[in-house]
Amino acid sequence: MTKKLFIKTYGCQMNVYDSARMADVLAPLGYVATPAPEDADMVILNTCHIREKATEKVFSELGRLREQRRDRKASGQDMIIAVAGCVAQAEGEEIMARAPYVDMVFGPQTYHALPEMVAQATRRTGGVLNTDFPLESKFDHLPEESAGQGVSAFLSVQEGCDKFCTFCVVPYTRGAEYSRTPEQILAEARRLVAGGAREITLLGQNVNAFHGQAADGTVWGLGRLIREMAGIAGLERIRYTTSHPRDMDDDLIAAHGEVPQLMPFLHLPVQSGSDRILAAMNRKHGADDYRRVVDRLRAARPDLALSSDFIVGFPGETDRDFADTLRLVTDIGYAQAYSFKYSARPGTPASGMDGQAPESAKSDRLAALQQLLNEQQIAFNRSTVGRTIPVLLDRRGKREGQLVGRSPHMQSVYLTAPDRLFGTVAEVCITDAFANSLTGGIVTGKHVHQPMERLSA
Ligand code: SAH
Ligand code: SF4
Ligand code: F3S
Repeated sequence: MTKKLFIKTYGCQMNVYDSARMADVLAPLGYVATPAPEDADMVILNTCHIREKATEKVFSELGRLREQRRDRKASGQDMIIAVAGCVAQAEGEEIMARAPYVDMVFGPQTYHALPEMVAQATRRTGGVLNTDFPLESKFDHLPEESAGQGVSAFLSVQEGCDKFCTFCVVPYTRGAEYSRTPEQILAEARRLVAGGAREITLLGQNVNAFHGQAADGTVWGLGRLIREMAGIAGLERIRYTTSHPRDMDDDLIAAHGEVPQLMPFLHLPVQSGSDRILAAMNRKHGADDYRRVVDRLRAARPDLALSSDFIVGFPGETDRDFADTLRLVTDIGYAQAYSFKYSARPGTPASGMDGQAPESAKSDRLAALQQLLNEQQIAFNRSTVGRTIPVLLDRRGKREGQLVGRSPHMQSVYLTAPDRLFGTVAEVCITDAFANSLTGGIVTGKHVHQPMERLSA
């Protein structure tokens, strides 16, 4: 008997990957995906705890689900309600207490045990709370993927974090750093490619800290894993995220120059340009260390484009510290970036530090930083106009005949193209650039197809 499953995913790509794997674990129990929560037999909220309001969002979503469950009960059906992910890990007890109608609450390291949890929940002997960090790895217990992920796929190779930046909840919600075995990863990569993937993004909270031990006892770094993956026929593009500046080793940097499949785009979060703030954040690198890593990367791969994460208004951040951040941004020149107001997270060291910044200062700094980053992003996008670049066409657009793809530098490219090109890398001449996207036309010989009209991107 088939049952309907709805998973709502918040947060980072690792949660996207986890949601797909939860569906794999539930498939043998008869669960198939449905696009709407109201007709689902099971709803899982796969949550994120990284910044504030995350928990409140979960509770308001749970309130809605409770209503939908009532409606279903009225028509003789039922709904299992589950909370997974990082809020579940951090606030499991509180969820059980405040929302006793929730059937299952489980952390990111336990979802391989979903069949048992579902059995327990169905017996309705009270809610199931599972926020252990089990000794065995879930990866050794997950079934093979039941469905391909499409043209562009995610593959978790590393999880957890031992860095303990003073602002961050991840070491508490995901647990200690763990690397999967190279054999397991390569087998999964081959299956993804057999299932249609042309691009794989290797994932980890600290992906370049990867140190997977192979069956022969050798320990592989991320550089070696990437070189090995490049040997998989049909895999055209490799990316990885998210990296820590301290773990950019020589072999990985060299791989950027030597492995053509490794795309020339890197998300390398720096958080701040002030050495004082970086020290208070426990980042264990200074602004100049970061500049040097970027110089080495660009020496290996001159067309490398960079992205980053920034936090403004960290406790004690002065105007001068913030000016250092702007200076670093100006020095590096980013193709894109994410920036956030510092958010005090319960239980993290920074939440108790002196000098918590007022909201208005955070807003002002965020606006100034985002203006600079936006200018850089638009300038970067404009620099591609008139050039012909390889675009992996991995999505179908909203309009008839429209395909959407990614440039090597992660820009979204919109174009009109025959559907038979879906899933391939096409040569595209870029005709226009916007803040968040490019438009262009397929190049066939010397002829450029008519580009799309302007998009309000
Ligand atoms: N592992 C990655 C980042 C994981 S969290 C790294 O080391 O860089 C993603 C981003 O969220 C972080 O880079 C940081 O910029 C932001 N972030 C994390 N905790 C935050 C907090 N308490 N307040 C504001 N932003 C935060
Ligand atoms: Fe969080 Fe720092 Fe670990 Fe990144 S490196 S996940 S920011 S503790
Ligand atoms: Fe959020 Fe957890 Fe990812 S807190 S960013 S879902 S690791």
